[in-house]
Amino acid sequence: METLERRKLLLGPNLSTAYSCPVKIVRGSMQYLYDEVGTEYLDAYNNVAHVGHCHPRVVAAAQKQIGILNTNTRYLHDLILDFAEKLTATLPDPLSVCYFVNSGSEANELALRLARAHTNAIDLVVLDHAYHGNTTTMIDISPYKHDGPGGKGAPPWLHKVPLPDLYRGMYRDEDPDAAAKYAQHVIDAVRQLDGRLCGFICESLPSVGGQIVLPNGYLNRVYKAVREAGGVCIADEVQTGYGRIGTHFWGFEKYDVQPDVVVMGKPIGNGHPIGAVVTTPSIAASFDNGMEFFSTFGGNTVSGAVGLTVLDVVQEEKLQGHALDTGEQLIGDLHGLMNRHEIIGDVRGSGLFIGVELVTDRRTREPATSFADAVVNRMRDEHILFGTDGPFHNVLKIRPPMPFDSNNAERLVTTLDRVLSTFRVT
Ligand SMILES: Cc1ncc(COP(=O)(O)O)c(C=O)c1O
Repeated sequence: METLERRKLLLGPNLSTAYSCPVKIVRGSMQYLYDEVGTEYLDAYNNVAHVGHCHPRVVAAAQKQIGILNTNTRYLHDLILDFAEKLTATLPDPLSVCYFVNSGSEANELALRLARAHTNAIDLVVLDHAYHGNTTTMIDISPYKHDGPGGKGAPPWLHKVPLPDLYRGMYRDEDPDAAAKYAQHVIDAVRQLDGRLCGFICESLPSVGGQIVLPNGYLNRVYKAVREAGGVCIADEVQTGYGRIGTHFWGFEKYDVQPDVVVMGKPIGNGHPIGAVVTTPSIAASFDNGMEFFSTFGGNTVSGAVGLTVLDVVQEEKLQGHALDTGEQLIGDLHGLMNRHEIIGDVRGSGLFIGVELVTDRRTREPATSFADAVVNRMRDEHILFGTDGPFHNVLKIRPPMPFDSNNAERLVTTLDRVLSTFRVT
């Protein structure tokens, strides 16, 4: 039986596949993926394989450790401590206490528990269109899910504020006070929560929201107001950390702010399931309330070896600087395409975290949703993989494995140029 048919029988029906003609990928190497007949695809989408699919050093570290020991954190072992030490060295003081789990969803769950334990409060402020994970509570705090198809809306303790999207949001690029106006929504929300606020969570560059770079001056105002109202500031760095944005190692550093809790996932294990939360000793002390925290697989010995090696590779191969250079070239060339293709309304991003927003009319900014879908499928036929995102699914989402290089960028832009030239806006 064909793989797709077997999958329909055996896996949950709401697990989606990418592309109208799904690809069957059987092998990966750095920024390339291969299908069952050996066709090579340039991967411009998978941010999980951060240092590259099957990076030989990560593979070797996992293979070596799984043959020696793989057990949990109730036994003493140096590997997870070496990883924690190296990880916290990338963060400003006092972000120095680590918890290890198995996914971004679990890490965000834990971040919420930390915030609630520290504040003795429940209510949370979140950006509209955000996604923070697939568990029951993460759906509750993810407007992208609970306001979308099949969603049941937000619980009463969740407070949504507008996504600070300078291209499509309620205050736009032409408004010099946009950052302050967006921040005012948070300030108003937290002031009304008198004693009930546990915190504020946002991605440092909202991804599902459409590859958004927050306006300068937004997070400073927001974090200040949240703290004044007694809340904890949580940065979801699941997509944006580890040098991807080129200019900085962590997304929040771009805005010169410091969160109280940092949430990590996807890239830190390069595909091995590792999630992590790093917080301050004071928040960790509030959480240490008599109830043990334990995750069976979180922080296991193999995860320690993999996590440590991934971070070594990011630093030794200078991938942040590489992302900055390649990203500058790619973003510049994509901007260049705007002169030739009216359909491109906006190009934005930082490093190898890039969004290309397609619109049917640059003046009204009408989303070119079905066109974006067609482009992604045509690019797949050209053996270049990326996806769409944003509230209207009209933003081409480009966030490749970090070894993605200058030649790859050139090929992506040339191919996209050709694909866009063959379409006419409908
Ligand atoms: C920003 C963000 N946070 C959290 C998650 C959840 O991570 P996971 O799928 O590893 O549970 C995701 C996953 O896409 C994400 O993009």
